[in-house]
Amino acid sequence: MPPFDASPLAVMPPAMQPLSGRTPLNPLLSRLQPYPFERWRELCADITPNEDLRPISLGIGEPKHATPALIEEAVMKALPMLAAYPSTLGEPALREAIADWVQRRYAVSVNPGTQVLPVNGSREALFALAQTVLDPAERDALVVCPNPFYQIYEGAALLGGAQTHFVASDPKRNFAADWGTVSEATWSRTRLLYVCSPGNPTGAVMPLSEWATLFELSDRHGFVIASDECYSEIYFRDEPPLGALQAAQALGRADFRNLIALTSLSKRSNVPGLRSGFVAGDARLIKAFLLYRTYHGSAMGGLVQRASIAAWNDEAHVVANRGLYRQKFAQVAPVLANVLDVQLPDAAFYLWAGIPRHEAGRGQPGNEIGFARGLLAQYNVQVLPGSLLARTVAGVNPGAGRIRMALVAPVADCLEAAERIVRFTQELTESLR
Ligand SMILES: Cc1ncc(COP(=O)(O)O)c(C=O)c1O
Repeated sequence: MPPFDASPLAVMPPAMQPLSGRTPLNPLLSRLQPYPFERWRELCADITPNEDLRPISLGIGEPKHATPALIEEAVMKALPMLAAYPSTLGEPALREAIADWVQRRYAVSVNPGTQVLPVNGSREALFALAQTVLDPAERDALVVCPNPFYQIYEGAALLGGAQTHFVASDPKRNFAADWGTVSEATWSRTRLLYVCSPGNPTGAVMPLSEWATLFELSDRHGFVIASDECYSEIYFRDEPPLGALQAAQALGRADFRNLIALTSLSKRSNVPGLRSGFVAGDARLIKAFLLYRTYHGSAMGGLVQRASIAAWNDEAHVVANRGLYRQKFAQVAPVLANVLDVQLPDAAFYLWAGIPRHEAGRGQPGNEIGFARGLLAQYNVQVLPGSLLARTVAGVNPGAGRIRMALVAPVADCLEAAERIVRFTQELTESLR
């Protein structure tokens, strides 16, 4: 296996190498890191997967269950909408459908006129929100992110001219980020905090006590909290995951000050290609975000708006979808628990598993990359090395010694992959004795 080189340019595809010469370019672009999948493709480019076994991918977290017919039908019915420009604010009927869903799901009342905006999936909104909040002229602004994390948070911070500060998740506390490790000096420079609940890749849901801590910090230091909740409808406990707006209301913050929740249809309704979600929260931030979005040109297309109304108004397909994930996780997690350090997460569709002999790595990336490479070579199963989803801080990468498995394929494929992983791990453990 080639040595692991964590420097961003080492694995940047040629098209992303900074241009030289006199072409004007935003210099901040060169600070962007290659996406984890690009790095993984690079790291396993020299591998020929075992051709005797059909490929199974647990690598990319793209929903694979069928798109509900009611959404497809709504798209077809809305074809005449192609003839008009959509508004950035979105149709009143869409904002009302969203507000009604928030009411049903969280028992929280949001004003559809001032506290809700449609967005083209949560990814673009996570990015654009940072550009709305950050002052590019500020020299030492910070954006705080959990670690491991969804890489858009980092890119949004860097292109907004800020630096990132990562807070490691703690496996001993259900992967909660240890906010207590952040100094007052760091919080005082913080303008934006991203949280992800349910978390990718950990699946952890933030409890009310953690929200109380973060709201208190936000009040004291004046930063905005962006709560990424795109996995909120895929959960394995009886209680649905607590949402940010719900936590704010429970803690007496009915105005949602300095808080924006981001939700998506991609996973809830199996429509990653629709590009539809919403943001809701502090009316002052929503107003500024609308202004930014008007110039950015990110109005949601009329077809997508109509399809989204149909999706938010229907819960039966969401219950059925959750049922499929529950069945899958109930069957697959116990198989993997025979050889990996893994348990049923609170929510989302990932298993964030510790591989054996992690101690040998002592928090350094490497082990899990070798593991994922070996698994691909010998058993034709793709998983994502955990270190690619996290940053190394003070010599420790919280994804080291872990792999992420997305259980998006049909249950039979996930089970077969799990059985191959068991065989591979047993053979590996034997060979290391
Ligand atoms: C944590 C997290 N946030 C946001 C997104 C973006 O999802 P979408 O843009 O489809 O809403 C993803 C996608 O995988 C994700 O994992």
